[in-house]
Amino acid sequence: MMPVVQLLRAALKHAGNRPPRCVMQTTSAVHGVRTHASSCTDGDKPKVLITGGLGQLGVGLAKSLRRRFGKFNVILSDIRKPPNHVYNNGPFIFSDILDYKNLREIVVNNNISWLVHYSAVLSAVGEHNVALAKEVNITGFHNILDIANEHGLRVFVPSTIGAFGPSSPKDPTPDLCVQRPRTIYGVSKVHAELMGEYYHQRYGLDFRCLRYPGIISADSQPGGGTTDYAVQIFHAAVKSGHFKCNLRSDTRLPMMYIDDCIRATMEFLEAPDDVLVSRTYNINAMSFTPQDLTCEIQKVLSDFKVTYNADPVRQAIADGWPKALEDSAARQDWGWKHEYDLPQLVQTMLTHITLGNKLARAF
Ligand SMILES: NC(=O)c1ccc[n+]([C@@H]2O[C@H](COP(=O)([O-])OP(=O)(O)OC[C@H]3O[C@@H](n4cnc5c(N)ncnc54)[C@H](O)[C@@H]3O)[C@@H](O)[C@H]2O)c1
Repeated sequence: MMPVVQLLRAALKHAGNRPPRCVMQTTSAVHGVRTHASSCTDGDKPKVLITGGLGQLGVGLAKSLRRRFGKFNVILSDIRKPPNHVYNNGPFIFSDILDYKNLREIVVNNNISWLVHYSAVLSAVGEHNVALAKEVNITGFHNILDIANEHGLRVFVPSTIGAFGPSSPKDPTPDLCVQRPRTIYGVSKVHAELMGEYYHQRYGLDFRCLRYPGIISADSQPGGGTTDYAVQIFHAAVKSGHFKCNLRSDTRLPMMYIDDCIRATMEFLEAPDDVLVSRTYNINAMSFTPQDLTCEIQKVLSDFKVTYNADPVRQAIADGWPKALEDSAARQDWGWKHEYDLPQLVQTMLTHITLGNKLARAF
């Protein structure tokens, strides 16, 4: 077991260092279509629907959005039954994004103004079930786009490092470059980026898209992506002291801690319309290989061992992806700034997992 006192101290220090968040307010119109004001005032809060909300990212985002806009202004939805702690913590609703009529009913009946579209089939799962990925990521996305356009919603859709491919520049990958991904996941995300941008310039839809790196979280499990190892390794380090990695030791990929990802999403959602030069932005935090991550974990858990047995499907996907994202436009246009680097990530993940998420959240 790791030195708990040292971890507690690091976690407390980290919690105390968080800068206060600034609040932006704006009302704007794009091509004659009303977009929604970002505001903290009581009468003017957005009503948010999150699709695919029971995945790795949705519950954490809902928690932050509820803190900001009120518990009942943020509705989680998914096609799965929520665990009790999610069900008891705020509105949850069944919503299959392939059911257009049901989606429209939810948006109308709940007076939804912002739609965060998280439902997706991720990279590794998508390669094993192309038909499902095509249906959820493309047909489902069309439903989201049409409903958002029909009802004048602000719609946020995450893209990914998987939207790039072997012919894209890799280190770093700029916002605008060749995008020829070789997975159905990547193809569907490029499609989403282009369709969203087209609806924005054609109809004035308030479409917003961030290309997330691999996201690392302690209290939610990844949903079948190529970067999943970077979450699983921490649980293995604490529980068994051994991890079998499904990527080669030198596979360098862009990654981000979930708190940075959630904050980026909230800040981008609230950014005034007129600062957004683009509708799709890269965001970057850190890049590392399994070997780098292992060394950093071994600074705390010196007996931790990793063996490598690369999965050919995941390795081929990872080999075609960026090593780092170039994100100066996000930093310049709407003030994006990451907080977690590799040492902080390792401290935080080991603290959460070692002490239990409940205790760690209390800091
Ligand atoms: N997690 C990451 O590292 C990462 C990185 C880049 C981009 N993203 C993107 O962020 C979003 C959220 O990612 P995540 O990691 O939480 O995904 P996840 O796989 O953990 O969760 C996706 C959710 O979508 C739901 N879903 C599947 N089919 C559905 C349908 N027909 N109707 C409604 N819901 C359905 C699933 O039940 C699941 O809960 C996705 O769009 C993903 O592409 C994630």
